[in-house]
Amino acid sequence: MSMTYFDHNATTPLDPCVLEAMLPFLGGHFANPSATYTAGRDARRAIEQAREQVAAALDASPSEVIFTASGSEANNLLIRGVADAWCNAGHPPGHLACSSIEHPCVAEPVRALGRAGWTTDALPVDTTGQVDVTAVTALPENTRVLSVMLANNETGALQPVAALAEAFRSRANNATQEPACFHTDAVQALGKHPVSFAAFQAAGGHAMTVSSHKIGGPKGAAALLRDRQISLAPLVYGGGQEQGLRAGTENVAAIVGFGAACARAVADLEGRSSRARALQQQLESWLKSRGAVIFSAAAERLPNTTFAAFPGIDGETLVSLLDRQDVAIASGAACGSGKQGVSSVLLAMGVDPVLAKGAIRISLGMMSYAATSQVDVDRLIGQLDKVLSQLQRFAAVA
Ligand SMILES: Cc1ncc(COP(=O)(O)O)c(C=O)c1O
Repeated sequence: MSMTYFDHNATTPLDPCVLEAMLPFLGGHFANPSATYTAGRDARRAIEQAREQVAAALDASPSEVIFTASGSEANNLLIRGVADAWCNAGHPPGHLACSSIEHPCVAEPVRALGRAGWTTDALPVDTTGQVDVTAVTALPENTRVLSVMLANNETGALQPVAALAEAFRSRANNATQEPACFHTDAVQALGKHPVSFAAFQAAGGHAMTVSSHKIGGPKGAAALLRDRQISLAPLVYGGGQEQGLRAGTENVAAIVGFGAACARAVADLEGRSSRARALQQQLESWLKSRGAVIFSAAAERLPNTTFAAFPGIDGETLVSLLDRQDVAIASGAACGSGKQGVSSVLLAMGVDPVLAKGAIRISLGMMSYAATSQVDVDRLIGQLDKVLSQLQRFAAVA
């Protein structure tokens, strides 16, 4: 039997239409986009068309789109790029802040700069997993970056980024310097929730990250959207690609795929959201009827994400027992290296570490070519029911 997949927040299968758009660039159209002959100019045109597709999907201008190879790289480029540009201009290191529930590719570069002379802090979240807007007023005047994600990858909780951006803009600031940068990681939000870079900028935001493989595009492409007022230094120096901010011959096929995926990720968002929301509600009522705790239940959340725990049952055990039945879900703290631990997001929310160890994440497919169906949810419920009964019988005789 083929796998029933409930880990769409980790990655999505490649959309067949996206693959079709990419194929010419994996075959005959292989020229370097920096070449000045016809084939090179064709490759350049394909990249610029993809840039327009990404910009159109996100309500941005093409000149604001910087292609990178991953969301992780885009987040690093923003945080380290702002910090380096600031110091390159002769300023002493300042202050950097992010929320306490950021993905490691935001939290770790902030920590790394903390070891290199910057002061840092992490804004707290409440028990529903939402960042406290009032904490922004306490940020020091020399804060150069505040990064808060639009939707959390584990709980799905949407963050009040517009209110945070407003609060960040209106707090005491040194008016003679370039604006401090408010950044949002929108990697999990795109394709599942409305995302507009223009609206974000109007609220006071400056930079946003999106990633291709979360929306039916290929791995190996992502983008940082950046307001041109924000100075950035590159992470990779070299040939001057991407406005001198990301040297290296472009991955044309992946960028073309990303552009095609963006166009599809914003189509029929309302219809796709309401179908996912209905399945999410059905799944969560069943989980609660079997004694599960749903994390961030009281927060506004993505319609595809359920983060839950059954008290007394280890999350990783559930993942591996379901895996034997060809059902793929994620445990709470699975990270890039495959190491298991307790979710730092849940700890930041004040969840008891013993309960947090039981966390499982079920993320439904929302893209039309790979949408989770009623049959899929019924299969998950059926298999989870069997596995839970098995574990409960085992606990009774142990
Ligand atoms: C919220 C968030 N930001 C960033 C990333 C990293 O994106 P990428 O896998 O493209 O590096 C992820 C990946 O899971 C994520 O969930």
